[in-house]
Amino acid sequence: MNIDILLGLQWGDEGKGKIVDAISPGYDIIARFQGGPNAGHSLEFNNVKHVLHLIPSGIFHPEKINIIGNGVVIDPAVFKKETESLGLPKQELIKRLVISARANLILPGHRILDAAYEHQKGCSKIGSTLKGIGPAYTDKVARNGLRVGEILKDDFRDLYNAHLESHLSLLRNFDFTFDLKEYEAGWFEGIELLKKFRIINTEYLINNLTSKGKKLLAEGAQGTMLDIDFGSYPFVTSSNTISAGACTGLGISPKRIGEVFGIFKAYCTRVGSGPFPTELSDQTGALLREKGHEFGSTTGRPRRCGWLDLPALKYAIMLNGVTQLFMTKSDVVSGFSNIKVCTSYLSAGKEVTEITFDNSPVEPVYAELPGWMENISGIREYSGLPENLKKYIKFIEDQTGIPVTMVSVGPDRKETIFR
Ligand code: GDP
Ligand code: IMO
Ligand code: MG
Repeated sequence: MNIDILLGLQWGDEGKGKIVDAISPGYDIIARFQGGPNAGHSLEFNNVKHVLHLIPSGIFHPEKINIIGNGVVIDPAVFKKETESLGLPKQELIKRLVISARANLILPGHRILDAAYEHQKGCSKIGSTLKGIGPAYTDKVARNGLRVGEILKDDFRDLYNAHLESHLSLLRNFDFTFDLKEYEAGWFEGIELLKKFRIINTEYLINNLTSKGKKLLAEGAQGTMLDIDFGSYPFVTSSNTISAGACTGLGISPKRIGEVFGIFKAYCTRVGSGPFPTELSDQTGALLREKGHEFGSTTGRPRRCGWLDLPALKYAIMLNGVTQLFMTKSDVVSGFSNIKVCTSYLSAGKEVTEITFDNSPVEPVYAELPGWMENISGIREYSGLPENLKKYIKFIEDQTGIPVTMVSVGPDRKETIFR
């Protein structure tokens, strides 16, 4: 089985971009299967940091095929900006990147509707990245979407206008002012750029190549706790972020999946609204934010920080069929005399470990482990890590039953330890 999946086990921003880039040399194809420009995947090498939103994190490796799969929603304006930020010659990018004709477009009206819905929700807003994700997936599921393949047809402008009309008529129900014109201009420039890329039925390319032995890495976006079905609904994104989403978002059979790499931070963060049982609204939370530079890669918003939540992690492992755990940001929890880990919750006085469907309030129950003081960023061998960090990892392995096979000790490609 030569298709592996790497996905987030928490609320996003686990370090997927960094690790996909680091392990890309072992693959022939790197493919995004869901989400859209709400994602911000950072990776660093040669002292330069790149943030990707739509383009898979294997793009900096020559000779790899990168695919934006059918499950992704694409905003052409964001796509154009992103291509310009990469520092890669356009012809090289066109060689490395293939786009599914079945991927749905995020239209300018979707962005405005996203903002209008959030505005209407007031203090119960989701904290969306406002990239138009929810409305674009809504139109897809309602069978009103516009797909990338359509841009190559002569009547595309007419199709666009019909969609615009329907969005404008929806927007008349809101007391919300907006200016579409400027965004529309950049959007159409993005459409012209998209036309230069290979827009194909990527499911054939994927199945043909992997049947011939080529290796594919499916790159998740967001995290399991933001999954539309299993996350803390309604404070979630609008796609299936779990491993099943890789099958529908790329057109592959579950039988073809090999490893499922589940990535998690040594602590937890969340951007946007919604429950977060281990959230620390104190000095410790502020310290984690400062040490971990926990500010959103897409929106710049401060991320909420807290201790590791094992019931949530176990839930994510179960839903995804995780075979290996990758732990990132271990360096950020250096320097604490004690580290807390949530092992269960108290709900109305009772100890529970299930994640409920209705976000009913829970209090975390913590185990406390001894910390370590060393700066670990320069360490490259597992054996060189502090004993108390190894005990922390062993504790997580014992609790979850899954091996931690990779430990990340810094944002750079090289700051990665494989066991
Ligand atoms: P993604 O959305 O899962 O790709 O994660 P983001 O890129 O949004 O957020 C992760 C942040 O942590 C980025 O700024 C990364 O450069 C950084 N990062 C990744 N791994 C590590 C690590 O092991 N240690 C530290 N200190 N930073 C890391
Ligand atoms: P990556 O791939 C963290 C959050 C938003 C909001 C909710 C819904 O970088 O891990 P949406 O824009 O989808 O309508 O927002 O989901 N969110 C993310 N949080 N990382 C992400 O992506 C996210 N993408 C969406 O903050 O709470
Ligand atoms: Mg991110």
